[in-house]
Amino acid sequence: MAEKLTTQEKYNRNARHYDLMELFPESLFFNRFRRELFSKVKGNKIIEVGVGTGKNIPFYPPGKKIIAIDFSEEMLKRARTQAEKLHVNVDFRLMDIESLQFESQQFDAVLATFVFCSVPDPIKGLKETRRVLKPEGKFYALEHVRPKKPFLGWFFDRIAPLVAAQTGVCINRNTVANIRNAGFHIELEKDLILDIFKMIIAFPD
Ligand SMILES: C[S@@+](CC[C@H](N)C(=O)[O-])C[C@H]1O[C@@H](n2cnc3c(N)ncnc32)[C@H](O)[C@@H]1O
Repeated sequence: MAEKLTTQEKYNRNARHYDLMELFPESLFFNRFRRELFSKVKGNKIIEVGVGTGKNIPFYPPGKKIIAIDFSEEMLKRARTQAEKLHVNVDFRLMDIESLQFESQQFDAVLATFVFCSVPDPIKGLKETRRVLKPEGKFYALEHVRPKKPFLGWFFDRIAPLVAAQTGVCINRNTVANIRNAGFHIELEKDLILDIFKMIIAFPD
């Protein structure tokens, strides 16, 4: 019988191949999307949740207090190396988004890129995100979601269990609805590639 790993274990296992697996979409699209998202970020105290291998570090605004968390030690290790290489000062913490170890209403901005597709309980994680945001703070995200077109939606539903089993990523979540259900108001929902890849900006209701 196949080994049943948790999402955290899958990321720890896949971390050393992660950047290679993402090389093609990253250089073709994601890099550009990250640059655009970070150009919109405001605030002095920023947290990135699910920092992964640190692909957003080149876009961190200079002179800000930045904390970055992830629950995969192996992904975080690579993010630390990336920050050292780029001489960017980041406070890294091994932490679960679903139970953030911070006081409420701490941060001006929460950033999450391609994260809530894999958080095991996304609504719980999003509620935590909302809790640590200042009332005037904003949540900035890039996400891939279940497409609305019937055939594509059906196709995503069919392959989702296979992708999740290998990577921990659920490709058929309705993350925009999850963000609303966690108590956010959507300020921007921009389709980047069809209605699958999106840029989302939201603020606490
Ligand atoms: C698809 S990767 C994206 C990494 C990075 N944000 C990027 O844009 O390349 C998702 C990341 O979210 C992390 N993650 C998923 N669920 C998490 C949780 N509950 N708490 C902390 N990190 C989590 C994974 O370990 C992984 O590093």
